[in-house]
Amino acid sequence: MRKQSLAREWNTVESASDRTGTWIQVEGKPLLNLSSNNYLGLAHDQRIVEAGKLAAEEWGAGGTASRLVHGNYALYDELEQRLAAWKEREAALVFANGYQANTGVIAALAGRGDAVFSDRLNHASIVDGIVLSRAEHFRYRHNDMEHLEFLLKKHQDARRKWIVTDSIFSMDGDKAPLLELVKLRDRYDTMLMVDEAHAGGVRGEEGQGLCHELGIAGKVDVLMGTFSKAFGVYGAYVCADEIIIRYLMTKARSLVYSTALPPAVIGSNLAALSLVQTDSWRRKAVRQNALMFRQLLRSRGFTVDEEDTPIIPLTLGENEWTLQFSKRLRQRGIAAVAIRPPTVPAGTARIRFTVMAAHTREELEWACEQVSVIRDELQKGGTIS
Ligand SMILES: Cc1ncc(COP(=O)(O)O)c(C=O)c1O
Repeated sequence: MRKQSLAREWNTVESASDRTGTWIQVEGKPLLNLSSNNYLGLAHDQRIVEAGKLAAEEWGAGGTASRLVHGNYALYDELEQRLAAWKEREAALVFANGYQANTGVIAALAGRGDAVFSDRLNHASIVDGIVLSRAEHFRYRHNDMEHLEFLLKKHQDARRKWIVTDSIFSMDGDKAPLLELVKLRDRYDTMLMVDEAHAGGVRGEEGQGLCHELGIAGKVDVLMGTFSKAFGVYGAYVCADEIIIRYLMTKARSLVYSTALPPAVIGSNLAALSLVQTDSWRRKAVRQNALMFRQLLRSRGFTVDEEDTPIIPLTLGENEWTLQFSKRLRQRGIAAVAIRPPTVPAGTARIRFTVMAAHTREELEWACEQVSVIRDELQKGGTIS
């Protein structure tokens, strides 16, 4: 892996106490954080931190057992009722994290003899859930509805059929064609599951996600989302009809055979949900910053998608170039990591920039200037073309 520049290393963040979440300290050096999923800056909101402290004081530090044993503290009920109301669905179920939600839900709802149609760029947790389910796995080309329809027609006879997609793709920052997916769901009598990990908090009137923004949430059989990104905390949830949620309570192995979340996490999630619903200015700010950073990069000659999401990839291709680029960014005071295979397809290594609501215009302009200087340096040295 080292020879192919694929071995991973991580940095120790020595301080993340900056209240906006936009600056971190690594190796004694302050870095502008352009790689955080804390899109709304809620991870450092003191109301959320305090709510976690209060929940820990009242309920203790640990979940103590699976929810099906005695880990199902009343805080869970409150959170799930509020989630269901927010998402306008009959019921909700909280999981430990997004990885466990996707693996647990897909493996429970699909099985041998079923078919799952999954976008080629879906998150790894979706892929792993399908593998665990033992259903037939059909990967359609990214956002290619013709290819999906071709596969749906070809495998019409599967016992039960699911289409699964991210709503905003985690490494590309583009959106799934949800309106068309809903049409195919209806036409081919399939079920549809949408992972809103990167859209929750960021899209929709009250941050419910892209399905709500487009008015199709009622047509999605399972809406999944996380608390780990725009909510700034930890955990995940699915919202669906009562019957599906009740089934998952018994059948989702990642829920049944794992300890309940620490009460502090649930307390913080409750506080974060309130702020996500009310603070629409944060959503506006992150969208404006996304548009601005994309435009700034374009004005310096970079190729950047016409999108409005906070995930902004700069695809360089080669693993080694991308590592070099990321290293130089760090030397110049910017934290933005190199994303390499297998997280992204071979030959598409990239710097994945993410912007947050609290980034200022000056910070983004300065960052863009650094990105373009590094490109010029590496081009001169013949490292990148
Ligand atoms: C689209 C998507 N789904 C699921 C997950 C997993 O969520 P979590 O980090 O809460 O495990 C992530 C993020 O890592 C993601 O990007």
